[in-house]
Amino acid sequence: MRDRAVPGWLSDAVIYQIYPQSFADSDGDGIGDLPGVLARLDHLSWLGVNVIWFNPLFASPFGDAGYDVSDYFTIAPRYGTEQDLIALVKAARERGIRVMLDLVPGHTSDRHAWFRASADDPGDDRYIWSETRPSEEWVPSTGARQGFYLPNFYPVQPALNFGYARMNPDEPWRRPVDAPGPAANRAALREIIAYWLDLGVSGFRVDMAFSLVKDDPERRETARLWNDVRAWLDTEYPDCALLAEWGDPKTSVPAGFHADFFLHAVGPVWRSLWGNAEGSHRPEWGTDPCFFAPDGRGSPKRFLAAWDEARDAIGGAGHVALPTANHDFSRLVCGSRTASMVAPAFAFLLTWPSLPTIYYGDEIGMRYVPGLPDKEGSQCGPEARQGSRTPMQWDASPNAGFSTAPAGALYLPIDPDPDRPTVEAQRAAPGSLLHQVRALITARRTTPALGTSGTLRVVHDGYPLIYVRGGTHLVVINPRQATATAPLPQDLGMSEAHCLVGGDGVKLGPGGEVSADGFSYGVYRIPQACPAT
Ligand code: NOJ
Repeated sequence: MRDRAVPGWLSDAVIYQIYPQSFADSDGDGIGDLPGVLARLDHLSWLGVNVIWFNPLFASPFGDAGYDVSDYFTIAPRYGTEQDLIALVKAARERGIRVMLDLVPGHTSDRHAWFRASADDPGDDRYIWSETRPSEEWVPSTGARQGFYLPNFYPVQPALNFGYARMNPDEPWRRPVDAPGPAANRAALREIIAYWLDLGVSGFRVDMAFSLVKDDPERRETARLWNDVRAWLDTEYPDCALLAEWGDPKTSVPAGFHADFFLHAVGPVWRSLWGNAEGSHRPEWGTDPCFFAPDGRGSPKRFLAAWDEARDAIGGAGHVALPTANHDFSRLVCGSRTASMVAPAFAFLLTWPSLPTIYYGDEIGMRYVPGLPDKEGSQCGPEARQGSRTPMQWDASPNAGFSTAPAGALYLPIDPDPDRPTVEAQRAAPGSLLHQVRALITARRTTPALGTSGTLRVVHDGYPLIYVRGGTHLVVINPRQATATAPLPQDLGMSEAHCLVGGDGVKLGPGGEVSADGFSYGVYRIPQACPAT
């Protein structure tokens, strides 16, 4: 595992996630589309990101916003055509930007032809069927076949059958991982991956990647499945990458993925950083304070421990991706954390050795919009995911420049706040969040020490957080409202520190102490090499 290569472009990536429904609408139907993205590529190029990850673009009845695929080989007409995707991939590559799609391997829509066939044929085992109803979760057949099927998420998302890791005489519906249905599903998975890679995309974010083989202790069979896919990719498509939605990089990277995300819903690690228990939130996630919060009651220690653990397990074989937010959870700007408070989070994101992943609109401080109705399955129990899915705010024109449709016809309403940020206004304001994010991206992309390969030495693990990258760059982050101070080790040669980005409100004292005003950050070049620990 440790000698597996990761494509260089991934190791150097600054990823930008586009929720296609909400980014840019070119045809005035109120829903974003691929030509709309094409017309806005210059924003991304100016910003400096070099990988786009799209949420699912495939044909779907949109019972779960496209995570219920009805045809893996067709672009959903509302987003455009295959030709539009090809044109976008080409135009993006001309700007040095790669495109990744979203692969949903664990389930289809209940309207997928595979499922319709399975629901009519008692001999078909591409999905998981039981003649009796094992629990309330199982869904009654909608076809000629009698019985119940296992969903993977919503009832409209039947689980594809990749088999069970172990048999159980009390559960006669279990099939081994090499039964005909599971074998057909594995073959189809490769076919889908190859189809889109052949059209020029660079890889996939893989939805619920952990979920394929059922009753799989330690996910051993699921890992075997992905490692097989990876071995095939390494031979056939060595320049492509798979990014897991697994939430446990120390398990998923050894299972074959090039990278995995720290995620809100999988343990407290991501939440301990910037999950502030506001916006889209489940009570069971608790209300522990997070580090990036104005009241300064959090700590980076939980994150740092998880980081060390993941890094040790992964070695150089892959990466941990760190998202500002995504379509499933609250944006950085949410509730009590306002747009004027989030620049330090970007400074952290873009100087930490993880893969930075910016959710569209976070670069201007778009907020989580509370109180919106369900849209295409966005309301998931207490999680109001729609608040993070509102249209991109481009300018001061109607619908914030997102669409020419009547306001009532938009996919979701524009943030009604009269002071909502826009790309246009922030581009015109030199100190804006957008300009700060851009400067941080530039610093990361032009300074290898700040990237995934630079060493890391944490020198203060509280407020402020202070660390040295690559032995040559010092980073100071104060995400709380109150000023924070800390001493610096003697060996850092701070007297000749040169500020690369930020630095407003940060003072480096002659005696080696740091004082950082509320919500300040600074990235410094320091002359003296210092060892990583
Ligand atoms: C995770 C996706 O991010 C989410 O949006 C979706 O609802 C579920 N997987 C089911 O596919």
